Amino acid sequence: MTSKLKITIIGGGVGGYPAAIKAARMGAAVTLVEKDLLGGTCLNRGCIPTKSLLHAGDVVQTMKDAETFGVRCKGYAVDFAAMMARKQAVVNQLRNGVQGLLRNKKVNVVQGSARLLDPGKIEIAETGEVIQSDKILIATGSKPRHFDFKGGAGLELLNSDQALELEKLPKSVVIIGGGVIGLEFAQIFNSLGAEVTVLEILENIAAGIDTDIAATLGQIMTRRGVDIVTGAAIQRLFGKKGRITVHYEVAGEKKTAGGEKVIMAVGRVPVTEGLGAEKLGLAVEKGALVVSDQMETNLPGVYAAGDVTGKTMLAHAAAAQSECAVDAMFGRKAPFLGHAIPHCIYTSPEVGSVGLSEAAARERFDIEVGRFPLVACGKALVLNETEGFVKIIAEKKYGEVLGVHIIGPRATDMIAEAVLGMSMEMTVEELAHAIHPHPTLSESLMEAAMSMRGGAIHMP
Ligand code: FAD
Ligand code: NAI
Repeated sequence: MTSKLKITIIGGGVGGYPAAIKAARMGAAVTLVEKDLLGGTCLNRGCIPTKSLLHAGDVVQTMKDAETFGVRCKGYAVDFAAMMARKQAVVNQLRNGVQGLLRNKKVNVVQGSARLLDPGKIEIAETGEVIQSDKILIATGSKPRHFDFKGGAGLELLNSDQALELEKLPKSVVIIGGGVIGLEFAQIFNSLGAEVTVLEILENIAAGIDTDIAATLGQIMTRRGVDIVTGAAIQRLFGKKGRITVHYEVAGEKKTAGGEKVIMAVGRVPVTEGLGAEKLGLAVEKGALVVSDQMETNLPGVYAAGDVTGKTMLAHAAAAQSECAVDAMFGRKAPFLGHAIPHCIYTSPEVGSVGLSEAAARERFDIEVGRFPLVACGKALVLNETEGFVKIIAEKKYGEVLGVHIIGPRATDMIAEAVLGMSMEMTVEELAHAIHPHPTLSESLMEAAMSMRGGAIHMP
């Protein structure tokens, strides 16, 4: 296909670079402006580095459990510097890969900060270069939210970017915020042997995830030594001799938690500053750019994708949005399957979730719920990872699956089957009748569906 469409993309994260590749493939002349590192948060400071460290923690756990499998290890040591170096090597290799893909597609990559001059024109702040285009995609992402807690000024409170650059493994860590970032960092530091406290202001950790799953995750992490406090209202911080004490109140009681390091993981905020949004009249709501279902802003020809839209702050959602925006620029209406965006937490055990939680589904539909515990799954026993379960929520009349929630080993991979199924309006019958390979963890999905249609085979 040929096209002379000129497209400029602001931001080289996962909300930007897939759009650049797709648009170039479709024949557009593409310029991508990035002020920092290609790959953005996900590749450099998010998904990839955290998963690299989480996997290192899993390796430690495997060493600890080795005797269960008949393997005696004579002694092992955690080399934090080597773990961080490997994490960086993985990041660098992937970033070079992105650079190569963009070069291969002849995308004009400009290093600098872009500012909108009008709906067809941007300026590079550092050089004054002006770039004219037919369509613009804003994918400027998000940054860590920061709260000025009383007593916090002058103390070294780490955000997730900084926590990923630590040179020494801290002996103790207090994490403020029991959301996805807080829990994944808790997992990393707990698995590497640090003392970890998580202080969450809400009554549940992992807000937004089905409450059964969140409660089970909390119990398992607590059993593994993470001190999780919910309903914790931070009062003030106090630092002395390499230790920060967090004073908080829970159920009217005053308490403290102390650590060598404190990580603040209290959410992220869209990045719109410096874009010139106000001057151009770009619609912004709660700090995020407002977009249509085709990712177009209120300014015709100006699109936005990824975290800056404040919708679902996930890498795969950002990528899907950016591709949807490119389709719209070419006049195509691509389906965006917003009801089937998976949410994953890479703790141990992992969480994989898609669609409605039981509570949300109950509000709108007459539902039925199926379950299958991993303790009854042969492969889970082989792995010695039997904690967790699969839960399926379906509407009663047609049996359409509305939500699937998994806590267990490889839940983040297993959930992909449910995503595909839900994208195709799968019913419980279809899932129960699909022949799953044996022995695999995926059989648990089939068995959970069977439990709603006459009974799972491996359950009394
Ligand atoms: P970003 O990745 O933030 O990219 C925006 C880019 O725009 C940046 O590179 C920035 O430098 C650039 N930019 C900003 N302003 C300008 C400007 N004016 N001019 C030029 N360039 C500009 N999501 C998952 O799905 N799975 C995970 O496992 C996961 N783990 C995470 C772990 C952590 C610790 C964090 C912080 C996030 C994680 N996320 C994860 C979320 C994921 O990283 C984000 O959803 C994703 O990066 C959003 O992509 P984006 O392109 O919208 O924004
Ligand atoms: P989050 O919104 O998931 O969690 C923040 C938590 O901090 C909430 O539970 C909130 O109640 C709590 N909090 C807020 N103020 C507080 C206070 N004063 N005291 C104590 N707790 C407080 O945001 P998080 O974890 O920072 O992650 C940001 C984004 O990054 C998320 O939207 C997530 O989608 C994405 N992400 C995704 C990952 C994945 O897909 N595995 C991993 C890491 C991040």
